[in-house]
Amino acid sequence: MRTVTLINGDGIGPEISDSVVKIIEASGLKINWDIQTAGEDVIKDEGVPLPQRVVDSIRHNKVALKAPVTTPIGKGFRSVNVQLRKELDLYANIRPCKNLPSVVTRFDKVNLVVVRENTEDLYAGIERKVDNDTAESIKLITRKASERICKFAFDYALKNNRKEVCVVTKANIMKLSDGLFLESYRKIAQNYPQIMKKEILVDNLCMQLVQHPETFDVLVLPNLYGDIVSDLTAGLIGGLGVAQGANIGLDCAVFEPVHGSAPDIRGQNRANPTALLLSAIEMIRYIDEVFYADIIEKALFKTLESGIYTSDLGGNASTTEFTDAIIKNLIK
Ligand code: NAI
Repeated sequence: MRTVTLINGDGIGPEISDSVVKIIEASGLKINWDIQTAGEDVIKDEGVPLPQRVVDSIRHNKVALKAPVTTPIGKGFRSVNVQLRKELDLYANIRPCKNLPSVVTRFDKVNLVVVRENTEDLYAGIERKVDNDTAESIKLITRKASERICKFAFDYALKNNRKEVCVVTKANIMKLSDGLFLESYRKIAQNYPQIMKKEILVDNLCMQLVQHPETFDVLVLPNLYGDIVSDLTAGLIGGLGVAQGANIGLDCAVFEPVHGSAPDIRGQNRANPTALLLSAIEMIRYIDEVFYADIIEKALFKTLESGIYTSDLGGNASTTEFTDAIIKNLIK
């Protein structure tokens, strides 16, 4: 039986993790979950939000499913997510964004993938107080990290029959840092004559995405733009409740939704488990249990097609009702 690390997170994390574990169990797929807590709640006992045991567990098991973990805003400890990605060198963040059956949105032909560099840029949080009235952040971009994420994006495109890889920067203003990212893209792109290329500035991309999202295929971006743009693309297909993701490194992979811990709906049995479930389905494919991934996906789609939605999608099913409906559709 395969052992997978499970970080059930905080906020809505435990509710959606319970849902997803139940659905996977009901499918018949046997996974030995190595449950690891992280975040604010573990600080009082262990002194840090990301104890070494969590990192060791993922290193050992190679694969993790992770629910969201809260990061205090403007103060407090460093993001567990950023630390984890850095510690395990999970350099590629993949966020596929495709319309779901019968989830009606303004657009119906969205099928794009955000490939986000996951280890550097402003998102690395290298900042300091210069004096009481001045603070600065360093936008660190290296050739090594930029070339490897661009190579990842082109390899991903080839493997998944995608036609185009578009690089997103603000290299007209940040000529050195974003300029280096763009230069790396151009160099790597030469090795992929079968894939179409496109270059776009991030502000223009945002406008085009909300007008003609169907014209985009694979996007490759530095960390911070990737973070922001992937929330935008989540909005194109129904919102954060349905947006999946994965962090991939050379040795390990951590599958997690795009969304955060949603403290505003915590404990209300209202959270949509779809984003974590779709992330888990990709995790199950990654461990070569394609049969189970397919049947769980079919049960999810059938549930949505039968008009059962959580409140974020305009329905009135609770998290548990939605979960039970998926389980019923697995068994039928
Ligand atoms: P958020 O993604 O938690 O919530 C934004 C909005 O989307 C809220 O109105 C929330 O109710 C809704 N939402 C999110 N997921 C949902 C779901 N599954 N079902 C239904 N509605 C859902 O973003 P926010 O509020 O900016 O961040 C909250 C906390 O989460 C912060 O501490 C942040 O640092 C953390 N965070 C953690 C992430 C991770 O662990 N990977 C990623 C993003 C944020």
